[in-house]
Amino acid sequence: MTKKGKHTVLFICLGNICRSPAGEGIMKSLVEKAGLQDEFEIDSAGIGNWHVGQLPDSRMRKCGAEHGYNFNSHARQFQKSDFGRFETIVVMDNENYRAITSMASCQADKDKVVRMADFLTHHREYTTVPDPYYGDYSDFELVITLLEDACQGLLNNLVEE
Ligand code: 4NP
Repeated sequence: MTKKGKHTVLFICLGNICRSPAGEGIMKSLVEKAGLQDEFEIDSAGIGNWHVGQLPDSRMRKCGAEHGYNFNSHARQFQKSDFGRFETIVVMDNENYRAITSMASCQADKDKVVRMADFLTHHREYTTVPDPYYGDYSDFELVITLLEDACQGLLNNLVEE
């Protein structure tokens, strides 16, 4: 929670066109269903800059739509200043974790970085949310399945704080 009294959550992945915009969309949907939208600020960003300004990957958007989501954020690159704007920075895999924590300038900022898979309750056999970019449609389905589980776990964790 920040001084403004809001939970500030930033989802991170490599390109910000598959996993993290899906995390952002699913978390926003869960928060809205819980009537908590005024208590949350939710965003996503990528480690790379290749897709800046783009909508999510068409496969991710299609898969999201089939599950009732509209993933429509535009990609942006993570900035060091995001450590000042967000209390919880959620990464999808270990490569993301290393990239983001290596940009932290103090332990308190490093401690803001958490792994999405640590909030899984139904699919604990996964330790990461695997990158679907070079995969097939079933890999995008898996992203949705894991994010729905983990975002619910994260939401429960934040509201219990
Ligand atoms: P994301 O997937 O990190 O889940 O957005 C990727 C998107 C793009 C690339 C890699 C992963 N890429 O290499 O362009």
